[in-house]
Amino acid sequence: MDPIVVIGGGGHAKVVLSILHKLGKYQILGYTDLRDNGVLLGADYLGSDQELTSMAAERTSLNAVLAIGQVGLGKARQELQTRLQSLSLSFPSIVSPNAVVNEEVRIGAAVTVMDGVVINSGASIGHGAIVNTNSTVEHDVRIDDWVHIAPGVTISGGVTIGRFSMIGVGATVIEGKQIASECIVGAGATVVHDLKEPGVYVGSPARRIR
Ligand SMILES: CC(C)(COP(=O)(O)OP(=O)(O)OC[C@H]1O[C@@H](n2cnc3c(N)ncnc32)[C@H](O)[C@@H]1OP(=O)(O)O)[C@@H](O)C(=O)NCCC(=O)NCCS
Repeated sequence: MDPIVVIGGGGHAKVVLSILHKLGKYQILGYTDLRDNGVLLGADYLGSDQELTSMAAERTSLNAVLAIGQVGLGKARQELQTRLQSLSLSFPSIVSPNAVVNEEVRIGAAVTVMDGVVINSGASIGHGAIVNTNSTVEHDVRIDDWVHIAPGVTISGGVTIGRFSMIGVGATVIEGKQIASECIVGAGATVVHDLKEPGVYVGSPARRIR
């Protein structure tokens, strides 16, 4: 089994750990976090991210999964991965065995795809994206790097979602719409127009509030 370190020790990390257990192909060395949250689903606390330096030095290769949640823009997760780049960690994509990923889907590195997700053909998922529980990414959708698709979201065919954006829990985006980089779409919103500017959009139809 390939050794892997889980980066982050909050609620999102627990979801990721459950998926790693089901995949059964990784030896979970433990998790890093700023603080010790005790044993998380059998995973021990290893220390802060600095601990990764010595762990990486002891091995020829070390896998890691970014298991820090994202409520807001994806920049913090990207910055963390950039800081860790010098350690030559590998960030494999973690795809739940309970997700359906259909033909001709492209999934970048460091992506996590949770239980109950459906991704249909022609879709592409950028580096570091989270496709969260029970969300649907329809055919030919393009999701850029460091996007979070929250639980229960429906992204219809041909939609594009720019870098760092977050689509809030239960939101719907109708077909072919374009969402710019650095947009936050509120929980339960319905996106029926292109979102051309970075900002926070809520409601049905989704409108910009700032
Ligand atoms: C959109 C969101 C980011 C705004 O958060 P915020 O900046 O703290 O905004 P506030 O709570 O101050 O709300 C500002 C206004 O927008 C309204 N609003 C906030 N979220 C809304 C939503 N999802 N739908 C409709 N209206 C919303 C508030 O009622 C408030 O209106 P008011 O000024 O008339 O009282 C947040 O409410 C949201 O929906 N987050 C998504 C959470 C999520 O998906 N988490 C996933 C976890 S895995």
